[in-house]
Amino acid sequence: MTKAFYITTPIYYVNGDPHIGHAYTTIACDVLARFKRLDGYRVKFLTGTDEHGQKVAKAAAEEGITPIALCDRNSGRFRALAKGLNASNDDFVRTTEERHVTSCQAFWQRLEANGHIYLDKYAGWYAVRDEAFYDESETRLQQSSQFIGQGGLISGGPVRVADSTGAPVEWVEEESYFFPLSKWQQPLLDFYDANPDFIAPKSRFNEIYSFVKGGLKDLSISRTTFSWGVPVPGNPKHVMYVWIDALINYITSLGFPDESGEFKDFWPKNDPVTLHIIGKEIIRFHCVYWPAFLMAAGLPLPRRIFAHGWWTNSGEKMSKSLGNVVDPHDLVAKYGLDQVRYFLMREVPFGNDGDFSELAVVGRINGDLANAFGNLAQRFLSFVAKNLEGILPAPGAFTDADQDLLRASHGLLAQCREAMERQAFHDAIESVWVVVRAANLYVDTQAPWSLRKTDPARMNTVLYVLAETVRHLAILMQPFVPSSAAKMLDQLAVPETERTFAHLGEAHALKGGTLLPPPVGVFPRYGDPKIGKGT
Ligand code: MSP
Repeated sequence: MTKAFYITTPIYYVNGDPHIGHAYTTIACDVLARFKRLDGYRVKFLTGTDEHGQKVAKAAAEEGITPIALCDRNSGRFRALAKGLNASNDDFVRTTEERHVTSCQAFWQRLEANGHIYLDKYAGWYAVRDEAFYDESETRLQQSSQFIGQGGLISGGPVRVADSTGAPVEWVEEESYFFPLSKWQQPLLDFYDANPDFIAPKSRFNEIYSFVKGGLKDLSISRTTFSWGVPVPGNPKHVMYVWIDALINYITSLGFPDESGEFKDFWPKNDPVTLHIIGKEIIRFHCVYWPAFLMAAGLPLPRRIFAHGWWTNSGEKMSKSLGNVVDPHDLVAKYGLDQVRYFLMREVPFGNDGDFSELAVVGRINGDLANAFGNLAQRFLSFVAKNLEGILPAPGAFTDADQDLLRASHGLLAQCREAMERQAFHDAIESVWVVVRAANLYVDTQAPWSLRKTDPARMNTVLYVLAETVRHLAILMQPFVPSSAAKMLDQLAVPETERTFAHLGEAHALKGGTLLPPPVGVFPRYGDPKIGKGT
């Protein structure tokens, strides 16, 4: 039976515009989805938008439009981003959709039926920006400052902010439904102990473990002071707390509360297949609340939650007020989509924070893509076109050097799989680049161009070995740089039906005598006058 794999991005808040951080998560998920599809899995890849809550309602009010008008417009921008990034998502969920409201209410009723919801009164701090409740001990007083005209600064007196995020908090007192999170402390710790891979990287696991160990307070899960949310079944004065609503999106898309369709394949009781990729700032919601909600509802848990780091811009936090937010559309327009995808996956070990700079982007484009990978393919393909009428020669007997290179190519799938199981994109790419470098060295030492007159048979073998190596590299790079890898495979005349990981290895090797189409450069240098872009 085909193994299933379910991968999700966080659903993005619609109060702002998409930026590089959103693009980063979406690309990472897309790379994993594509990798698993090529590896024979039945994949479902979900993304979408988080549209309820006070933050979105406030943003709409500030613009003087209705919340749904804001959601419709901005959700469209996130959908366009996914498309613009060539994301292969199978669904795009919006929390204002009917199916989601149904799913949330059914989930709520389960919790209620299982005795895990009670009515009480909440009195405490709330940060609208984070849509999070904070304990007094998690907040601090901070001197606020306000800009006036011409760069002047005045002090506006102390404001209370959340320690971890700096978001202003306000005092909230209202009737609220509660989830008895405190009761789930031990079951959660037991679960983490039994599943040490549930949260990655390890540092995040440790962070969550000690947070839970420190004790959990019951969680307020409904609000009454605004109405932009999913009505609580039986008491529509209350809307659900936006985070319970948001987390449920992951099962809405599977058809919940109907457990007979996709749900049973992608949210199975045993041997879970779900990977949630999120940013590090939302681990508490995903690694504590979500598993506790699911346990309380009597539903299975995801397999793993991976929290990646944050991008800064030339050392500074990206923020609207600093005006240094990187727009993914601009970046793609300037450097090319596959180039941006490659950069984001290669530059920073997934899980670490990273610093964005255009210098680093150009370095990767010219160094890794144009000079190393692109050039490797380009050199022998144009030689074959010019000197052999575009016909891929058949090889003779392989020498040790040939065999070493072929063996290295054949060994790549296992290395990439192992790295991708850890969501170590950079390691997967690096293992491919070890072979890219070895192949370039092979060209230098075998010097096929100089063999044309002296030893054409040997030249043919060398050219063939290079073609077969590039075939492997391009097949494996498809998840990262889908269009460029496809172009490379087109140039090797590899049929579209023979580009999965099952086609790696000798059984599907290229055949000598194949006519190759005229070569075209796949990875241009940035700043090359021919493409009219200056660095
Ligand atoms: N709506 C919630 C998530 C609900 S999931 C059930 C939310 N939305 S968000 O619009 O704020 O998007 C957060 C996600 O965007 C982060 O988890 C991360 O994936 C990504 N990033 C936002 N800024 C980022 C950076 N500067 N760097 C990297 N990724 C960051 O939270």
